[in-house]
Parts: sequence; structure tokens; C-alpha cells
Amino acid sequence: MTTPVAIHFKDVELDAIADWEGRVAVFLGEEGKMDITARRVNRLTRGALKRLAESEGFAKMQPGEMRELAWPVGMAADSLLVVRLDRRSAVEDARKAGAAIAKAKANAPVLVLAGNLNKSADISFGVALRDYDFTDHKTADAVAQGDVTFMVSKPEEVAAEAGPMAAVAEGVFFTRDLVNEPANILTTDDFAARLAAMQELGLEVEILEEADLEKLGMRTLLAVGQGSVSPSKVVVMQWKGGAEDEKPFALVGKGVVFDTGGISIKPAGGMEDMTMDMGGAGVVSGVMRTLALRKAKANVVGLVGLVENMPDGNATRPGDVVRSMKGDTVEVINTDAEGRLVLCDVMWYAQERFEPTGLIDLATLTGAIIIGLGHENAGVFSNNDVLCNQFLKAAAAEGEGAWRMPLGAAYDKQLKSRVADMMNVGGRPAGSITAAQFLQRFVQEDMPWIHLDIAGVASVKGGTDLAPGGATGWGVMALDRMVRDMLEG
Ligand code: BES
Ligand code: MN
Ligand code: ZN
Repeated sequence: MTTPVAIHFKDVELDAIADWEGRVAVFLGEEGKMDITARRVNRLTRGALKRLAESEGFAKMQPGEMRELAWPVGMAADSLLVVRLDRRSAVEDARKAGAAIAKAKANAPVLVLAGNLNKSADISFGVALRDYDFTDHKTADAVAQGDVTFMVSKPEEVAAEAGPMAAVAEGVFFTRDLVNEPANILTTDDFAARLAAMQELGLEVEILEEADLEKLGMRTLLAVGQGSVSPSKVVVMQWKGGAEDEKPFALVGKGVVFDTGGISIKPAGGMEDMTMDMGGAGVVSGVMRTLALRKAKANVVGLVGLVENMPDGNATRPGDVVRSMKGDTVEVINTDAEGRLVLCDVMWYAQERFEPTGLIDLATLTGAIIIGLGHENAGVFSNNDVLCNQFLKAAAAEGEGAWRMPLGAAYDKQLKSRVADMMNVGGRPAGSITAAQFLQRFVQEDMPWIHLDIAGVASVKGGTDLAPGGATGWGVMALDRMVRDMLEG
């Protein structure tokens, strides 16, 4: 497991600055404004900071941006990371500043001279999020990770503020590790075992095996997994930090550990990306971890459907008709539209068993959402404006792109089947919306519901501001904030 870098907060000690070996990060505010620690660096370097602050280059620097000065004279540091940031900068810029420092840090120990900047905790959160590297399968000797030390005027206060953020970073890392993990290692068994291990944190974790799912009538979910040697499972994670008599909020995730497409097999090019098709389940797992780590005062249940979509003599065929737990029958036209078959059974089970106050499902559901929104925004579909706006607000506050898409009964005709209650595909037009319409049939009356199509945002090859290339952990921060604002407030 990848653990976030150790971050320490200590008092300002001007005399220690010159002797620091490694990297030193320092901040320049608007018009080159310097705090007491930056002034010391400026003096040690005989005015290097002031010259940078007066340069044309500095005028063009955005809040959160960084310039590196190598081998600063008068200091033992091998490089000086000069970041543009001031007291009025947004939280997002402070995180970006931290991320820029993490990116430049390599494996060296870093001293961050945050002085009396009011955003030290947010900067440290940015450092933690960006200082991630999935090295589990690199055989080269592990290099020691350099710690990060913040020199701040009120270390205890900043450390207290950063505490819950560290719980979020751990949840994000848990999600990223799951999403980055190849499918020969992250099998359904392995995934379930990693979730069961979270019982140590105070989560109640149950694993429903194929025989249990059969008894419950989850035939659409089982139909997806029946071509794989890995057994299908549903894992239920309950966090009971709220009032005893309060119904939980439910999170449901698509956990296709690998999606070959099944008999409707995908083309070879890029198929390896389908190791991330458990991204929805990954986010649900990461949020549950964060809630447990920070002992959230809320009741939340997370459910993930873990299956592998493989072609095989026993695999589901195009044209097969299967019955969902709800009782509705589905004609499987395309075995590659498998996510909705998994989700519909888990969503139904979640509602029948827990009568939740609301339901959010997450899934790397459609390639069409990438055509529509690219890698910048997840598709948001909802039957409830209040809940939806609450989520959009949380996502915006966390800088996680989310864009609302329409639902509408008019799309239902695309799902009409000749032989069953519905087909599992609605053709090329509005592919993400017909997928959401399919799911909505499994949402009970008056149940506030959001469907998040995260196919474009779960893993981004070129990385994002706060994540290197690969898994992003998109959604953990927004959902954690939503729980805080909506259920704990
Ligand atoms: N897992 C894919 C969607 C996907 C595509 C996720 C690209 C991440 C990146 C999903 O199961 C799928 O195959 N969807 C099909 C649906 C179609 C057959 C109706 C698609 O999008 O092509
Ligand atoms: Mn598929
Ligand atoms: Zn899929």
C-alpha cells in the first residue's frame, strides 16, 4: 500500500534555514511580498528572491506556480523552490502550490517555509496528494522518501487543521492503489480481502459470495461474472458513526476488476486500460476508509459489486435474457455494457436492505461520457435537484470537475426490447444518458439518487494538478466533503 509522505510541522527557527540539506520551498506574495522566513532566505542568497520578485517572469506567475533556483548561494540546500502565493489566494491555489513542491521534491527532504501564511494546512494537503508514486511492481531498490517539514508560526494549530486532511489523503491513496493495480493481482478475491482488512478501522465489512447472490436473485450481476474463474462478490461496508436510529446514506460502486467486453469482446488496442473498470468501487472504498480514519459522525454504507467480465464457454451471450433482483428482465444485446447489469442489482439490494436516505452510484460506465466531457468532468445524473446541487457544490469546493447531464423519459424508447422488459444498450445516440436511464429503473420511488459516470476522470494518462499519471482518486474528496456538510453539519 502506498502511504502518504510524513509531514511535520515545527516552529519558525530562522537559524536552521541556511543549514538545511535538500530542498527549501519559500513563498512570494503579491508584488513579491515576503514574510520573515522569506526575508531570511533573501538575505542568505544576497537578494536572489528580491531579484526574482522584480523580474518579468514573476509578474507572469500565477498563484500556486513555482520556479526552481538551483544551488542557491549562502545555503546548504541543493535547490530553492520559489512559489507564488499570498494570504488571499484560494484554497485550490494553496493545494496547487503544495503539488508543485511535491513534483519538484523528488526523494529529497523538503523544508517548507510557510511562516505565518494562513494556508499551510492546504499546502501540506497538496504536497501529500501529489507526492504519490505507484511503485509496487518496480523491482529497483526502494528509494527512501524524503519527509516534508513545515516551518510555521503556529505548528500545533496547523497540525490540528491538517489531521483530517491526512485522512482524506489516505482514502485517495487507497483508491488510487486499487485503480492502478493490474487485474491479475487485484482479482475479486484480492479486492474483497483488502476491504475486509478495513475492519481494523472500525468498519463492518461483509462479503456476499456467489451462493448468497444467487439466493438474493442477483442474476444480472452474476451473468457478468459467469465467464470468469474469479468468483463474483458483493462487499458491504458499514460505517456507523452517526445516531443509532438514523438510516444510512448509501454509496454503490461498479467493481469490474477487468472488462474484456465479454463475448462482445473489445478491440486489443488499449484494452489494458480496463484494469481501471473497478474505479467506482475504488472510490466507494476510499471514501469509506476516510470516513473511518477520521471517525465521521455519520452513518454511511458502501456497497461494491466485484466481478470480472471475460469471454468463456460459460459466459453470457448476446441475446441472453436475465432476471434482475428487482424482477425486471433484461435482454443482453451487448455483453460489453456490463456495468449497468452489475449496478442495478447492487443498487436494488442497497435500497431493499438499508432504506437509505439517499443513493449515489459511481461507475466507469461509458466511453461516451469521455466523448462528451473528456477527462475534466465526471457526468452527473440525478432525479433530485437538492441532493444534486449539494454534490455539485462539494465537488466545486474540492476542485473535482463534475457536470450535470440530463435524464428524460423520452430516452427510454431506445431501451425497448422485443423479448424482455428492456435491453442493456440504447444504441450510439446519448450513450451515457441511456445508461443512466437504465439505472434509474432500479431506483425506488422518492429515493434521492445521483449517478456519477467517472469513465473519463478515474484515471488520466497525463495526470492532473494533484495526481501523477494514472489513477486520480477523483470523487473521494467531494464525497467526503458532502458527508461532512450534509450529514455531519
Ligand atoms: N468500462 C466500459 C466503459 C469505459 C470506456 C470506461 C473507456 C473507461 C474508459 C464499459 O463497460 C463499456 O464497455 N461501455 C460500452 C457501452 C456500450 C457497449 C453500450 C462503451 O462505452 O462502449
Ligand atoms: Mn464494458
Ligand atoms: Zn466496463
